[in-house]
Amino acid sequence: MVVSTSSFVLCPGPAEHPARMGLLALALLLAVRLLSTQASPSPRSFQVDYERNCFLKDGVPFRYISGSIHYARVPRPAWRDRLLKMHMSGLSTVQVYVPWNYHEMLPGVYDFTGNRDLEAFLDLTAELGLLVILRPGPYICAEWEMGGLPAWLLWKPDIILRSSDPAYLAAVDSWLHVLLPKIKPHLYQHGGNIISVQVENEYGSYYACDYGYLRHLLGSFRALLGSEVLLFTTDSTRAEELRCGTLQGLYATIDFGPGSNVTELFDAQRRVEPKGPLVNSEYYTGWLDYWGEAHASTSAAWVAQGLEDILQLGASVNMYMFHGGTNFAYWSGADYKDQYKPVTTSYDYDAPLSEAGDPTEKLFAIRMVISKFQPLPVGPMPPATPKYAYGWVALRKYADLLDVLDVLCPSGPIQSQFPLTFEAIKQAHGFVLYRTQLPRDIPDPATLSAPPHSICDRGYVMLHKEYQGMLERDGQMTLRVTGKAGDTLDMLLENMGRISFGANVSDFKGLLGNVSLDSIPLNNWLIYPLAIDTAGQPSTPGPLRPLALPGTPS
Ligand SMILES: *[C@@H]1O[C@H](CO)[C@@H](O)[C@H](O)[C@H]1NC(C)=O
Ligand SMILES: *[C@@H]1O[C@H](CO)[C@@H](O)[C@H](O)[C@H]1NC(C)=O
Ligand SMILES: *[C@@H]1O[C@H](CO)[C@@H](O)[C@H](O)[C@H]1NC(C)=O
Repeated sequence: MVVSTSSFVLCPGPAEHPARMGLLALALLLAVRLLSTQASPSPRSFQVDYERNCFLKDGVPFRYISGSIHYARVPRPAWRDRLLKMHMSGLSTVQVYVPWNYHEMLPGVYDFTGNRDLEAFLDLTAELGLLVILRPGPYICAEWEMGGLPAWLLWKPDIILRSSDPAYLAAVDSWLHVLLPKIKPHLYQHGGNIISVQVENEYGSYYACDYGYLRHLLGSFRALLGSEVLLFTTDSTRAEELRCGTLQGLYATIDFGPGSNVTELFDAQRRVEPKGPLVNSEYYTGWLDYWGEAHASTSAAWVAQGLEDILQLGASVNMYMFHGGTNFAYWSGADYKDQYKPVTTSYDYDAPLSEAGDPTEKLFAIRMVISKFQPLPVGPMPPATPKYAYGWVALRKYADLLDVLDVLCPSGPIQSQFPLTFEAIKQAHGFVLYRTQLPRDIPDPATLSAPPHSICDRGYVMLHKEYQGMLERDGQMTLRVTGKAGDTLDMLLENMGRISFGANVSDFKGLLGNVSLDSIPLNNWLIYPLAIDTAGQPSTPGPLRPLALPGTPS
């Protein structure tokens, strides 16, 4: 494709336009470049140029046009297709989160296989000629369960997450000692394609504002990745957040979406980073979805216009998201804005590359903008993914949950006078059943209730195996019940995803308080942590063994 680069602007500044410079200045510049090349021990370098407000890649002014993709939200067989479509959209770079809790499911137990094979993903980006901006957290937000922090951190209930709390730092350090040595060979300086690494994420939005914590992370990242790699932070444009989220030694970048005056927004970055490249690390192409609300929608024209404004300034940009994907299994997060708001399974994000992997009108609008600033790769955009009509799938009932507790909870229940949280019984995700007996006859309706913020997040109530209704976090907190002494009361508690953003990130699950009958706490509970996923696997005996689907294509 023939592309006009007439409006090509990169890192505007005196050094950027040699034609306008005096010959002496040009000679000086060349001399400085030669000297800096000689001084540099490695031919591959990626640095900040504080004079020309640029990045320098191998000593040459550079700015990136990047897009976010999360390997954990894309099935591994689709990685190549999505990355290729990003490349063909004109992106030079992809920005990638590493969700800690996806790799260290239990303390000291690591998984980097299959869809968790981060290095295979990095190799694929390199093969397709893409650079990588890595965001290894340890906290990532990302609308991911608990912002990427492992739920097992809450086994110590008073832990202060994202702070200098020694218990938190010990867990972080042992994780970083596993993760970062895998990353180091992929750094640009070492022959790989990772040009920069983000430390924490939007830390300024967290109430703790603990510089000791950021300083500790800086030390660990430096110790494990070396002194050359470019480390940076990302925060919103709010002055308060830039104050708490930035640190000497970490290059400060910002994030904002379309629809505002880009020059004014970048002034926020200039207040904390007076020189160096302008960077928007999260330019929002769309937005996340909450259960019960409409699908997010951001107009393609708006996104394209804002992108053009950013590129016109010579800034570097990462589009968040370029391809959103799917929150598989229990990995969706939640927000807390006046009330608990769980994130949907889909993470389509109204992104340029849809959840199904299809190029959208927004993708082509973005590609058109990019083509005004740099050449697009030669060749066609790969097509939308093929779709199949599977027809209706009839779901058959195999068993009543209450009849198969021995299968779902082979180790048997835990006895406790009063309810225990998921974390107290070391169940990270999914469902826990709480069972007790009515202490007396209740001929007239009595009130079953739980205090505010104690049902996390949903409790399905059964009495004598009959469904009574649902208690819900920030929703209905009482039910009227009748029954006889000794009748079994069951409450099936569902974890709908831990909060990923804000002050309430220590989001305990299950029954966090007492359940009362006419204000008297019920006691003598049996607590069944349910292993729903393992129970569905082929080795499972009994009624839950999956049957072959009739008509499954061979
Ligand atoms: C954006 O703000 C700058 C500085 O305040 C101003 O000079 C410029 O005209 C504004 N641009 C638009 C499109 O409003
Ligand atoms: C956090 O949750 C508590 C209840 O557990 C609530 O009182 C408080 O307002 C929440 N804080 C924020 C910042 O949402
Ligand atoms: C539950 O009730 C018992 C008895 O009143 C009380 O000792 C206990 O602290 C309560 N638990 C919670 C979490 O409020």
